[in-house]
Amino acid sequence: MGNSPKSKFAPARRFAFLTLTALALFPALLPAQRPATIPLPPMGWSSWNSFSNTINSDITIAQAKAMVSTGMAKAGYRYINIDEGWWLGDRDAEGNIVVDPKAWPALASGEKPGDMANIVRFIHAQGLKAGTYTDAGQDGCGTVGPDLGPGYPNEGAENHYEQDFLQFARWGFDYVKVDWCGGDKENLDPAVQYAEIARAIARAQSITGHRLYYSICNWGARSPWTWAPGVGGVTADIWRTGGDIVAPIVAGTKNASRRAELKEVFREFDQGNHPEAQHTGYYNDLDMMVAGMSGLSDAENRVHMSLWAISASPLLIGADLTELTPATLSLLTNPDVLAINQDPLGLQAVKVAEPAPGLQVWSKPLAKSGDRAVLLLNRTAAAASITARFSDLNLTAAVPVTIKDLWPDKSLGSFPASYSATVEPGDAALLLIHGAEAKFTTYKPAPSPNQLATFTQVAAAHSMARVQVVYANPAKTTRLAELRVNGRIATRIAFPPTGPTPAFVTIQSQLDRPGATNVLEFSPAAGPPPQIQSISVQ
Ligand code: GLA
Repeated sequence: MGNSPKSKFAPARRFAFLTLTALALFPALLPAQRPATIPLPPMGWSSWNSFSNTINSDITIAQAKAMVSTGMAKAGYRYINIDEGWWLGDRDAEGNIVVDPKAWPALASGEKPGDMANIVRFIHAQGLKAGTYTDAGQDGCGTVGPDLGPGYPNEGAENHYEQDFLQFARWGFDYVKVDWCGGDKENLDPAVQYAEIARAIARAQSITGHRLYYSICNWGARSPWTWAPGVGGVTADIWRTGGDIVAPIVAGTKNASRRAELKEVFREFDQGNHPEAQHTGYYNDLDMMVAGMSGLSDAENRVHMSLWAISASPLLIGADLTELTPATLSLLTNPDVLAINQDPLGLQAVKVAEPAPGLQVWSKPLAKSGDRAVLLLNRTAAAASITARFSDLNLTAAVPVTIKDLWPDKSLGSFPASYSATVEPGDAALLLIHGAEAKFTTYKPAPSPNQLATFTQVAAAHSMARVQVVYANPAKTTRLAELRVNGRIATRIAFPPTGPTPAFVTIQSQLDRPGATNVLEFSPAAGPPPQIQSISVQ
């Protein structure tokens, strides 16, 4: 390692080397570009919040049609995700999943009832993608706490990982959510089980050529942000960071009177904030949204959407798409807000200031140089003025900053050093801010025979720093590396193909040591590593 006495560089010479390499100050322009293909947070609909385990073919068809007819598909929503309740745990003598043919009938001539490929074909014919659901354990959530109707055992994939994920891929599904009720009941280790499942998904892909997007759902148990990014070598995945915002609210049933609440939305937002784990295709999943469901006002729906947008959380709508009000539809499809969620850097917002308890300033750096999505969030019971200081956003004071308020869509003009707004209690202002980037400092790796690259004596203006990693990956597939910051637990980073020219990915790292004393060590993960050339830190 660069700092170890084994280094072939004597200390004095090493100091000169580091000083020289840390000298290059980048304004914002890097020699490298972002790689062309970075998987963005998935957008779509999930059956659980509004239909619980009553989900069937008719409901799925109506939701898929509504996704198109409401304009949500045009706005970017893609997935129709069938959650728990589609399968009641039956298998045939060979262990193949058997579903109720009445719930999942033939939909076109030549189709067989009870074949999940039927509904997948229907969803695909609408120009959409199809998601399915299982559990990592033996029993699924159906026995642990059935929400509606009787509970069924054996709704999990344990002992059938190879068979079930191959089946999902053969049916044509594009997405699989893997829950943890059975795994939890058996006290399994999620890092082990989810890695095994990732490998079963990879094998299913190699057999069928069909890829299942991997959605891990163990509610934040055993800190998935530390092991879920890239688990089992997967190059794109999401992991739930907390429980359910609300239990399902199903019209016409005993639980129709349940209500979503803003405080539960805040709870999941807070539990989901792990910006150091999120980048380049790996996303914290704050849960399916409850916007448009009973209990939340239009203003609260707007706050909810703003929080999920700045988090770059998956946007999976839980409301019944056939019942959305024009107000909800308009906020779910707001192009500026969706662009924040789908920004190609994929970064999660960081809280940059809390001048008084509950008055918060959140900032999400965006791909365009000098752009930030900023949320002024008032979690107190009284209206209050909240100020975003541009120095807290890592924007220079040299250039005035222009600001657009996204709710309503209104340019506010330009401002010299800060911007203040009065925010109503429980409300938020979502701002699109454009300024000039504060400087980046570039570091070349210190000699480190045992690591891919080690950067020592790294300084940052704020403890959560933005780090651009310049690398080369001439292969056709994404390569992985582990990053350990200041000796803490490592996180996995995906490096998509770059072609012949180096590119950069942006991550956020907690550089919490004072001055130039932070250490970032990249080491190989699964498979051949990328070539790491330098980092630029803001
Ligand atoms: C868990 C998950 C939910 C949903 C239900 C189904 O509670 O967190 O999102 O999938 O299981 O039972």
